[in-house]
Amino acid sequence: MRFRGLWLLTIGTLGGFSSANPMLEAAVAERATTFTNPILWEDYPDLDVFRVEDVFYYSSSTFAFSPGAPVLKSYDLVNWTPVSHSVPTLNFGSKYNLNNATDRAYVKGIWASSLRYRQSNDQFYWVGCVESSKTYIWTAVSSGAGQNSGEVTNWNWSAKATLNKCYYDCGLLVDDDDTMYVAYGNSKIMVAQLNSDGSAEVKSQQVYVDPAGAYIEGSRMYKINGTYYILVTKPASAEWVLKSKSPWGPYEKQVLVDSISGPLSNAGYSHQGGIVNTKDNRWYYVAFMDSYPGGRIPVAAPLTWTSDGWPQLVKDGSAWGKTYPLPVQTSKTVPAPVGKDDFQGTSLSHEWEWNHNPDTTRFKLLGGSRGLQLSTATVTNDLFTARNTLTHRIIGPKSSGTFRIDVSNMADGDHAGAVLFRDVAAYIGIHKSSSSAQLVFVNNLSLNSDWTTKSTGTVAATGPTLDSAATDIWLRVQADITPAFSGTTVQRTTTFHYSTDGSKFIQLGSAFPMTNSYTFFTGYRYGIFNHATKSLGGQINVKSFTMQLV
Ligand SMILES: *[C@@H]1O[C@H](CO)[C@@H](O)[C@H](O)[C@H]1NC(C)=O
Ligand SMILES: *[C@@H]1O[C@H](CO)[C@@H](O)[C@H](O)[C@H]1NC(C)=O
Ligand SMILES: *[C@@H]1O[C@H](CO)[C@@H](O)[C@H](O)[C@H]1NC(C)=O
Ligand SMILES: *[C@@H]1O[C@H](CO)[C@@H](O)[C@H](O)[C@H]1NC(C)=O
Repeated sequence: MRFRGLWLLTIGTLGGFSSANPMLEAAVAERATTFTNPILWEDYPDLDVFRVEDVFYYSSSTFAFSPGAPVLKSYDLVNWTPVSHSVPTLNFGSKYNLNNATDRAYVKGIWASSLRYRQSNDQFYWVGCVESSKTYIWTAVSSGAGQNSGEVTNWNWSAKATLNKCYYDCGLLVDDDDTMYVAYGNSKIMVAQLNSDGSAEVKSQQVYVDPAGAYIEGSRMYKINGTYYILVTKPASAEWVLKSKSPWGPYEKQVLVDSISGPLSNAGYSHQGGIVNTKDNRWYYVAFMDSYPGGRIPVAAPLTWTSDGWPQLVKDGSAWGKTYPLPVQTSKTVPAPVGKDDFQGTSLSHEWEWNHNPDTTRFKLLGGSRGLQLSTATVTNDLFTARNTLTHRIIGPKSSGTFRIDVSNMADGDHAGAVLFRDVAAYIGIHKSSSSAQLVFVNNLSLNSDWTTKSTGTVAATGPTLDSAATDIWLRVQADITPAFSGTTVQRTTTFHYSTDGSKFIQLGSAFPMTNSYTFFTGYRYGIFNHATKSLGGQINVKSFTMQLV
């Protein structure tokens, strides 16, 4: 009886199944009382987790994708959905607008940053250092969270301040007395105190350096039972806990995890992350694991505490567990990460991020079921320099992303398609000329290690020429992002498919091998693009996007 509400809700999502099926009920009950790692098989790195009343929040880094720093919410710490972005426009300089081939910001932008709720003024604060030089602070005022069990009624982000110093890999703490602190730094861990409205620094000082000289970063700062904690990572294998009676130290250190295996094979070690408690004060550590080609994905595990106040990870033997009891039993749910988006709202959902800041005059939600209009925004033969490529994280381990697009208003020379987007990329799309619309599979798009363009792509296969009266084409990218980051030389592959009726899909070209390198940081994404090679004026309508596990 205890889990009845959850059973019914879970069964509800299974559609046609009847709750009279005892085997299914048993299976659902089993699923409802435990969870399986990873908690969300999507690329949400550099996580910062915290809770406001009933709602867990999660902030993540996004580099040059825009909007930046997504905010996810959860009621059980396991099922998450993106609900906002702390940085609606990357206000870090002109290169974030993807102006041209020499004015781009790949791999720059938002790295590990921090998000917290401040009860006293009902504001969320986001703090992040960009390009190791400046720190940007954004706030969302009048959120309503404190009055509404942690639910935000209105995410109203605005740029609050820019500090002329870098809070590298920072972690924000709002102390019990409302003082705001920021822990930050690499190797030398620092703590800064902010002024009363959190817009400037009052003081800062070094609080910890490893006597053995280890490189550490990724600070997260907490106050628990009157004691200050800073979690730091020793990349890319360990998490340390620093503990002190004062925010200014001295801090003692213990190792929380170091090179422990699991929960997935061929991934990196679970490390950099943060801790959070449930309303009934049970604690969890949420970390990410390097899981390329898919990126960095979150895993969770419970903590226990020693009598002298050190957290200990609950392991499965010596490994990070694959399953643990569900942290919170609740009837509140969030939308599933898979499904269909037909762009009916007045703004894009927070599942979507553009490659750099978009040209907002060149896309439009048409309303009703007419979809998203993408007008060409750049004349270029280089997709990495084209503005307004719209991206979506890939759910793992294997999934497909299918775009239904209307290509009847493409102009001579336009290139549009569904891309497997990263520094080594490929796409299926349409190359339009005055006389025809040619279906193509293009691979061999790549960036150099300094993120200049190495190759703009090679047409590796051609499909039929589309009837000029045809409006709808379905383009499908089917990706296997099972980790292949460590202990294997395997390359996972992606295949590209098209359909002219939405039901019969035909593969175009051969399977594309993905890179497992971490240096681009962001993992592979699904994306839709439309750029001109001759002149602006053409457009496509994106009628829907469907992501499904396969
Ligand atoms: C690229 O864009 C920047 C910013 O608009 C501009 O200063 C620069 O001259 C441009 N470079 C080229 C090669 O067009
Ligand atoms: C949004 O935030 C701005 C800046 O803090 C504020 O001036 C404005 O009143 C807020 N709007 C709403 C609807 O809360
Ligand atoms: C904090 O104090 C409470 C009350 O004494 C205790 O139950 C709890 O275990 C302590 N530790 C943590 C991490 O909450
Ligand atoms: C990839 O692109 C580069 C640069 O455009 C070109 O030299 C090379 O031949 C291409 N490789 C393949 C396999 O198409």
